[in-house]
Amino acid sequence: MTNLQPADNLPKSPPSPDFWMPKSASVTTEHVDWIWDFMVWTSAVSAILILGAMIYFCFKYQAKSRIANELAEKSTDHNTTLEVVWSVIPLFVVIALFVWGFQGFVQLRTPPANSFEIRATGQKWKWLFEYPEGVVDDVLHVPVDRPVRIVINSTDVLHSLFIPNFRVKMDAVPGRFTDLWFNATETGEFPIFCTEYCGTSHSDMLSRVVVHPAGGYEKWIEKALLPDPSIPPAKRGEILAQKQGCLTCHSVDGTPKLAPTWKGLYGKSEGTSAGSVTVDENYLRESILDPQAKIVSGFGPSMPPYSKLKDHQIADLIAYIKSLK
Ligand code: CUA
Repeated sequence: MTNLQPADNLPKSPPSPDFWMPKSASVTTEHVDWIWDFMVWTSAVSAILILGAMIYFCFKYQAKSRIANELAEKSTDHNTTLEVVWSVIPLFVVIALFVWGFQGFVQLRTPPANSFEIRATGQKWKWLFEYPEGVVDDVLHVPVDRPVRIVINSTDVLHSLFIPNFRVKMDAVPGRFTDLWFNATETGEFPIFCTEYCGTSHSDMLSRVVVHPAGGYEKWIEKALLPDPSIPPAKRGEILAQKQGCLTCHSVDGTPKLAPTWKGLYGKSEGTSAGSVTVDENYLRESILDPQAKIVSGFGPSMPPYSKLKDHQIADLIAYIKSLK
């Protein structure tokens, strides 16, 4: 197993001042947190009152003797005032909960018109975020104090994008777009989870949202747009392979996972669904852009096309694969 997620790359939740909830870091938490607190405390108080009454009545109406137990006692059959009170008070409580909950729902489902839009794609087992400038990254980068709308889809099965610190969560559904929005109020890093069971590596489908201070997002995007000349191509390819999630299915140590290993792949002869091929630059390029064209025998058609990759990125990936002798 390759070291896909070194410990320092795992999402860490910043300490929360709140006993129940992760630290609040977006305007979208406003309608969630206090209603949740209200429900917890209302339920706790009700539970104590009901249990208390039950225990009290156990003693109050305990039979004095076996005989007394068998003789029915005369009692009134109901108390209208009491019944009206215990029906009407909870009725107002649930009506209030509905109104507050609905206000929160409307806020959560209505991204402001001037939202900054980022695409998110769920795939087995990786989140990819695509920025308007054309950069694709496995980490969500957003500016602080700006409404951000995430347009979500999936290339394979159901996933669900969950950012606990923003109290937002939305399914990623193959064949349709869903969305969520937030407006981060705190800079820093917050964890992202997949909360829809999506197969073997569901629990590894982790990422982070980085909330940049004013001007920080622009700086990041500028850097992300360029291939870094200080890093050799094979190393750039390795970083890209990790970011794009290639190494979830392709090993680099010779063990076959869901897909052929990359170790010793370059130059090898492979039997494929379209006959035998020698793995060269063009076969690798085709397999990245159109993975179903020639599937190596013994493997399923599980790879999504990586048509968003730029030529210089594909060249870096090939350089990396070549280096794995
Ligand atoms: Cu993707 Cu769970």
